[in-house]
Amino acid sequence: MKSRYELVLLPGDGIGAEVIAEARSLVDLVAARTGVTFGLDEIPCGGKFFLEHGARDWPEGSEEKCAAADAILLGAVGWNGPDGQPVSFEVNGKRQMAGWSPVIGNRIKLDLYANIRPVKCLPGTKHGLSGKFREVWTPETVDMVIIRENTEGLYSGIGERSADRATDLRVITRRASERVITKAFEIARERAGTPRAGMRSPRVTCIVKHNVLTGCRFFLDVYNEVAARFPDVEKDVAIVDSFAMFVLTQPEKYDVCVTTNMFGDILTDLASVLQGGMGMAVGCNVGDDRAMFEPIHGSAPPLAGKDKANPLAMLLATGECFAWLGKRHGDERLLRAHTAVEAAAATLVARGEPLTSDLGGSAGSKAVAQALRDEVAARLA
Ligand SMILES: NC(=O)c1ccc[n+]([C@@H]2O[C@H](COP(=O)([O-])OP(=O)(O)OC[C@H]3O[C@@H](n4cnc5c(N)ncnc54)[C@H](O)[C@@H]3O)[C@@H](O)[C@H]2O)c1
Repeated sequence: MKSRYELVLLPGDGIGAEVIAEARSLVDLVAARTGVTFGLDEIPCGGKFFLEHGARDWPEGSEEKCAAADAILLGAVGWNGPDGQPVSFEVNGKRQMAGWSPVIGNRIKLDLYANIRPVKCLPGTKHGLSGKFREVWTPETVDMVIIRENTEGLYSGIGERSADRATDLRVITRRASERVITKAFEIARERAGTPRAGMRSPRVTCIVKHNVLTGCRFFLDVYNEVAARFPDVEKDVAIVDSFAMFVLTQPEKYDVCVTTNMFGDILTDLASVLQGGMGMAVGCNVGDDRAMFEPIHGSAPPLAGKDKANPLAMLLATGECFAWLGKRHGDERLLRAHTAVEAAAATLVARGEPLTSDLGGSAGSKAVAQALRDEVAARLA
């Protein structure tokens, strides 16, 4: 158990900055209720930071602060410049999104090789389809974890552009594949011992396009090698395009899924629909010794400044941060805080209020976050 946990907060742009303010209040509440001491260091970053400062997408020294932290909470980055286009800038002769450093930069430089994204439908979730809200998917059928390789693949940053051609190099290495696939099997084993919806036997589905892509054939070979070490876990292979259909039509087929970087990026936005949308979806960027927690959504400029963003994804991500720190340092107080956050979010969804409009409610972002904190406070009394 540590006497003090150092957290870096990366607000970013748009609704990222709004939801991280609510996460900060949640951390303060947990500190007051459990006696855990947190040191909080908030680092401005993203497209707006670049527009205001003109050289970098976060201050000098931020990389070192992130590397030294016990954990990182990230809002979301991405902002449009005066020309209406996402702000980007040249780094070593290459164009890069302003906000790359705190998100993809941290994932790569801190070796946060697994992006673990739980996909759960809480009881009472109303799914918004074409402006109408009803329970389409059920908690009994949606309870999976999608794990995305987080450091290479199509986001390796290696590419070139000439007048007539552009390429992005999709790098799939044995080391990165083996680590993330092993993590998937370990999580499947852990989940086998916990109550969960749908299927009972642990299973890891490898999502690939091995009928076409060399990198996917390699990823699948590594998957088969790792799977041999986990005979108690069922093997399953899905082709990415049909997975995109089955994840919506038969989500109960999936327990733990593992895939390469860009497939995972796209599929988890898709799978968030099962949870009630991006306002409910959490991403845990985890390495061996470091971790960064975020909602999977972006900065959603159309919602920014309107008190409309659903803060639950960010607050659930903060709960995952408590769980990771609690497990790592054997700190029961943080594990209790995690349980309280999960139960609080489930209570709001089951009660149907207060919720933001993406879940069929009419409450503002701040009111939802306050209600969640009230529920957490009651549980940590
Ligand atoms: N990790 C990150 O920081 C990250 C991730 C994705 C996109 N981005 C960036 O965010 C910017 C906007 O991208 P986008 O519009 O494609 O994706 P987005 O996730 O920001 O928003 C897409 C839509 O999803 C809904 N949504 C997202 N979050 C919500 C929330 N908390 N509550 C309610 N509704 C929510 C909104 O309808 C929104 O318009 C871009 O600059 C993009 O590069 C950043």
